[in-house]
Amino acid sequence: MEFQPVGLTGAGFTTGRKPLLAGNWKMNLERKSALGLAAAVRERLGERDDCEVALFPPYVYLDEVARLLAGSRVKVGAQNCCDEASGAFTGEIAASMLVDVGCDWVILGHSERRHLYGEGDALVGAKTKAALAAGLAPIVCVGETLAQREAKSTEQVISAQLVAGLAGVERRSMERIVIAYEPVWAIGTGKTASPEQAGEVHAYLRGVLAGLYDREVAARTRILYGGSVKPDNIQALMAVKDVDGCLVGGASLKAETFLPLLEYR
Ligand code: PGA
Repeated sequence: MEFQPVGLTGAGFTTGRKPLLAGNWKMNLERKSALGLAAAVRERLGERDDCEVALFPPYVYLDEVARLLAGSRVKVGAQNCCDEASGAFTGEIAASMLVDVGCDWVILGHSERRHLYGEGDALVGAKTKAALAAGLAPIVCVGETLAQREAKSTEQVISAQLVAGLAGVERRSMERIVIAYEPVWAIGTGKTASPEQAGEVHAYLRGVLAGLYDREVAARTRILYGGSVKPDNIQALMAVKDVDGCLVGGASLKAETFLPLLEYR
């Protein structure tokens, strides 16, 4: 897909994007602690509707966590899905199965999938299409490694990931897509991108979206930041004009570090 990043500075590009706080539990928590944490998040969020919250438990707890959260404002998603709809794919989980157990969301192209399990850009794009076809809302992750940042290839890497991750996605489906910028060097390392670094990259990604689609799509698509988000840095990150929420790993595993994030304002 051809794209030309478009500079999107100026008024009118920060409105109407409801913040999304996503807790990616990765391969952590067991049944009891997962259900306890989900219940605590449900209680804390209550009827508030100034932000969206979604939890991403391991596959095997999705069903139970989704039942617990049914009817609440806390949504549930999976950390991955298969690019195929059904068939002989041992060990894989189809997007339709995730919908079947109550998921609304799915994280795709997380850097741990890319770097530890060899998922390439094209596979992420195929998963995005499979997730949309099943009715899920994908969070498509992009991010550069430290070496790529130092080689000044951040923009090249993340635009290629974004273009491939959205390949063949129609304009109208963009209403369901969220992008997450997760610099690999900031994930689980305690190093957070500075608000300036996040702001630069998020603005760049919005320009890529404008080139791929148009300014309206770019203006309304939420772009989350992920990478060592914690209660003491979320406020500065969320103050950045183009940061529309956070994808949180480590700090999402305990009520005492996740619940304060919901009150970042
Ligand atoms: P972290 O993980 O918050 O532990 O850095 C973020 C992520 O991988 O989504």
